[in-house]
Amino acid sequence: MKYIIGNWKSNLGGKDISSWFEKMSQYLNSHKTDFNNLTIIVCPPFIYLPYVSRLISKYKLPFQIGAQNISAYPGGAYTGEVNAQQVKEFASYVLIGHSERRKYFAEDESQLKEKVKRAAEAGISPVYCISKTEDDIPEGVGIVAYEPVFAIGTGKADSSTNAGQVAQKIKEADLNRKVIYGGSVTQNNIADFLNESGIDGVLPGKTSLDPQIFGEMLTNASKI
Ligand code: PGA
Repeated sequence: MKYIIGNWKSNLGGKDISSWFEKMSQYLNSHKTDFNNLTIIVCPPFIYLPYVSRLISKYKLPFQIGAQNISAYPGGAYTGEVNAQQVKEFASYVLIGHSERRKYFAEDESQLKEKVKRAAEAGISPVYCISKTEDDIPEGVGIVAYEPVFAIGTGKADSSTNAGQVAQKIKEADLNRKVIYGGSVTQNNIADFLNESGIDGVLPGKTSLDPQIFGEMLTNASKI
């Protein structure tokens, strides 16, 4: 089973999302591919979680939902936060520790650890992002995303061979861990990453915003 996790970041509004699903549904209907080997997850901004949930049901798509972030705190007087119990109503997965959260929002390892705990308490699977093998991985993380900073949004992906080696290294501490790769994954290189034995999936950002390209990635991944 391979994970394909589309990280929309802070992109797409309501109308874009409606059109994304309409086009995705048309793509899948015209390609009639079997996606039994894939766990397909889309990660919209918080406010669109319920809308995306409705659209997935409407078009009967084999997609699950991930959130891009989660509060380190439980529910309560934490203005502006979205807590794990709320996220749980719509999402089964959550990205934690993305390099953009670390860089622009000063999230540090102690906060990230708390986020992992909140997700686990609510029964949400954390997808924990690291950019190098030295980064700490909190207990309770089942899916690790290796995302080297040089490859994020640059069009310059890591080599699949190196990513595969990094994935094996990350697994040394815990063989049950799944490791996915992120950073400039496209419809053209997705198969190279998924063919690496240590790599259990991919986390495309930019290329997940275009339903045609995301569809092509799914088609290519379904043949692995
Ligand atoms: P990218 O982003 O595919 O646009 O490089 C990946 C990510 O940041 O998760």
